[in-house]
Amino acid sequence: MDKIEFLKLGKQPIANRFLDQGDISNEFFYDLNVGLDKDTGLVTQMDYVDAPLMFNKEYAYRGSMSKTMVNHFASFSLSVAEILPANAKILEIGSNDGVFLKNWNSENAIAVEPCGNFAKETNELGYKTYNEFWTKELSERIVEEHGKMDFIFAANCICHIPNLDETFSAVRETLNDDGIFVFEDPSLARMLVLNSYDQIYDEHPHIFSVSALKNILARNDLNIVKVDELTVHGGSNRIWVKKSTNAQIDPSVEYNLDLEKSINILDLSTMKSFADRVQKSKEDLLYILNMFKQQGKKVISYGATSKSTTVFNYCGINTDFIDYITDTTPEKQNKVSPGMHIPIISPEDGFNNSVDYAYLGAWNFSEEIKKKESSFTGKFITHVPTVRLL
Ligand code: TYD
Repeated sequence: MDKIEFLKLGKQPIANRFLDQGDISNEFFYDLNVGLDKDTGLVTQMDYVDAPLMFNKEYAYRGSMSKTMVNHFASFSLSVAEILPANAKILEIGSNDGVFLKNWNSENAIAVEPCGNFAKETNELGYKTYNEFWTKELSERIVEEHGKMDFIFAANCICHIPNLDETFSAVRETLNDDGIFVFEDPSLARMLVLNSYDQIYDEHPHIFSVSALKNILARNDLNIVKVDELTVHGGSNRIWVKKSTNAQIDPSVEYNLDLEKSINILDLSTMKSFADRVQKSKEDLLYILNMFKQQGKKVISYGATSKSTTVFNYCGINTDFIDYITDTTPEKQNKVSPGMHIPIISPEDGFNNSVDYAYLGAWNFSEEIKKKESSFTGKFITHVPTVRLL
């Protein structure tokens, strides 16, 4: 790829690697620099972190920790089941803890999941799960062992994979001629609108626009037939793909391409102004956190997210500003956050009315959280789309 750099997010750790105090001294850091691929318009990191450093048997992100995501995959599965033939063969790439898979019959649904802890869980639930990365070689083995698939799904996974050409061509070879491939990932257009630069971290080497995806899929003989705009993960696109060039194209494809064209999504100048807004967001966040510190306020963070790893490390926000982070995920509790080493505790232990301000690391769940925490007397802080109190 011929890339032009437009944004530097500084030294960053592995975003989902929550540490025991004893592991702090040998923590891995890399330079998070982001660029634009001249050929396809793909927004992508200048260098990629080695996948096994991020996706391994200690992977901490659990998809079913939020009701929003559980409901999201349940209702999507219901609607897909209506359009698929009975006993359709389903493959999920990146099945995590089975939050999507559990909606399907294990006789017809198989999965690929490189994180050993989660592959073990879904294998134990009866879903054949290959504990490997998605590669051409694995896809050929899957076709040999199970035949071609009617439906291939990947949620918050394709944007994790550096080599998109190999990924898409392997999908193509695994899909029946009239099969459907659907994947959903954070949307670049939404990231630009929300100034949510924290969508960028090691696990997200790319942030997808429909326009760039169209270019990359086309050179792998795949066509976008529909685009659903989703609210999950701070604004995602669900991309529906088929092999056939004769497939009917939904108007949503043209609509999204036009919308992206109207904001010049493939242009370097668009990305450079985004980089300026990111710098301003950092200054504003540090300004209010400094002010609260001087006022002696108790400030914590709500949700130990990968996104907050980017924000805290880019802005240099450590325990001088944030006392601790609360998170519902057992795997994250009693550890410290990547890079800035802020302690993580359960909401039961740390979220109460002694807190003056809670930075929303999980701003993408702000509605769910505000509803759940309606008796909170303090205020939430967010940086999207601008730094403000909620
Ligand atoms: P998410 O925003 O999906 O994170 P990422 O940036 O890593 O993709 O994760 C939300 C995190 O917030 C997850 O660790 C669970 C936690 N969480 C809470 O602690 N309380 C809540 O009410 C919700 C909805 C999430």
